[in-house]
Amino acid sequence: MIKSLLLKINLIKYYYKGKYIHRDPIYIKGRDINNDPYYIKGKEVLNDTEFIKVQELAKKEELKKPLRTEIINFLLSKNNDNYLEIGVRNPNDNFNQIIAKNKYSVDPGVEFKTNPVDFKMTSDVFFQKLTNNDILNNEIKFDVIFIDGLHLADQVDRDILNALKFIKDDGFIVLHDCSPPSEWHAREDFKYSHTPACGAWNGTTWKAFLKWRFNPDVNSCCIDSDWGVGIISKKQEIGKKIEAENTFFEFNMLDKNRKKFLNLISFESFKNLTFK
Ligand SMILES: C[S@@+](CC[C@H](N)C(=O)[O-])C[C@H]1O[C@@H](n2cnc3c(N)ncnc32)[C@H](O)[C@@H]1O
Repeated sequence: MIKSLLLKINLIKYYYKGKYIHRDPIYIKGRDINNDPYYIKGKEVLNDTEFIKVQELAKKEELKKPLRTEIINFLLSKNNDNYLEIGVRNPNDNFNQIIAKNKYSVDPGVEFKTNPVDFKMTSDVFFQKLTNNDILNNEIKFDVIFIDGLHLADQVDRDILNALKFIKDDGFIVLHDCSPPSEWHAREDFKYSHTPACGAWNGTTWKAFLKWRFNPDVNSCCIDSDWGVGIISKKQEIGKKIEAENTFFEFNMLDKNRKKFLNLISFESFKNLTFK
């Protein structure tokens, strides 16, 4: 009885002006002239098969564990002299939870106004100043460098190149957002949010990571969690390079060959590879 009543309430809730909307409607809070809720996504959009598929993929990704913080702290569990984070936003989300003797943060403050970081500048300027001995000491070597700044392939590629100059031989370069679940998450333009991915954005970091997967000078893999946590190391044997394929870097090719292209592995498998 109660169950059937609840079911009816639930169904009524998702009918709008006699039309079936969706069980999980997305709408901007607000009212039209009749005081009815103002929906920006109509029935057609919400019931679109691509929209539903992408939303399901995103939900699946959001449930994956561990998050980047646990992975980085694992990488720092053996050596944790120096940690560098490129792109910090709110430090409580990751930076403040990282355990290392010395921690350094870089962010020009695009997304988080107070921007409480050590170096309020872009990664390009930071690495230039570091190289010139204008900040820190250009002899410094990091155990982990977390690259999570501007998520566009050209920038990420340059961040990796610069990071390789300052990473210990047995250290790790970590990259967030290497395994976008859909092409909409991998769109170039962050601002365009009227896609099935809504506001979620991984950008084109995956392209830079894949480019480095072709390089014989580094080892690499990607942990299948938290939107793909890519890891690159000079000496740690975490994954061999692959032959260059899909050099036009098309998303559909990544999607079909995700495991091989990214060397996508679970965190458990990764732990068995490292620190033996
Ligand atoms: C995805 S957020 C970082 C999230 C954080 N690392 C975390 O794990 O919670 C990206 C940050 O990169 C910063 N950013 C944007 N362009 C940048 C650049 N060229 N160099 C460094 N950081 C940049 C933004 O200001 C933003 O705070």
